[in-house]
Amino acid sequence: MRTFIAIALTQEIRDYLAGIQEELKKSRADAKWVQPKNIHLTLKFLGERDDKKIERIKEILEETTKNKDCFTMRLSNIGAFPKIESPRVIWIGIDKGEQVTKELAYELEEKIAAVGIPKEDRAFSSHITIARLKSPLNRQALVQELKNLPKPQNMEFQVKKITLYKSILTPQGPIYEALKEANLKTI
Ligand code: 2AM
Repeated sequence: MRTFIAIALTQEIRDYLAGIQEELKKSRADAKWVQPKNIHLTLKFLGERDDKKIERIKEILEETTKNKDCFTMRLSNIGAFPKIESPRVIWIGIDKGEQVTKELAYELEEKIAAVGIPKEDRAFSSHITIARLKSPLNRQALVQELKNLPKPQNMEFQVKKITLYKSILTPQGPIYEALKEANLKTI
């Protein structure tokens, strides 16, 4: 099955991001908007893996989280890959908590590589994808909307767990199902 490891967001944060999507939709850009209930921060994409590997990954997730503290994650700027002037992926970055997410992603990547799942070619960058552009249609209007958006103010929450998700791709969009939730230590 197809799986990935991610930080789930709170309802409040997802609602806020849905509001940003609504603002950006005014541009009539040709984008696939991530369904608000599916918005998350990916730590490690695993792709198609067999049950045996998934059991091993669950153990790795448990080992990685068990001695780590809960932490605060705060939304920062809105950005785009490859760059804001020619966006293909629209995302929200984080500032507070960014270092912790990097450390988690790095540790997971190393431990998962040791069980035979290749590392990513690109360095990890903490981001929350909210849209993927399908064509350049109305792209300039979108860039304008992006530049007009106010920076998120005090949008933060406590990350208490890391989740392994199963992703089922359907024509209506992906369906995510939690396979394992690994708790961080509460302080
Ligand atoms: P993204 O937000 O940067 O696009 C589930 O598909 C999650 O895994 C997405 O949030 C996506 O991150 C991430 N991911 C990373 N590499 C991927 C790949 N090669 N194919 C699909 N999703 C990938």
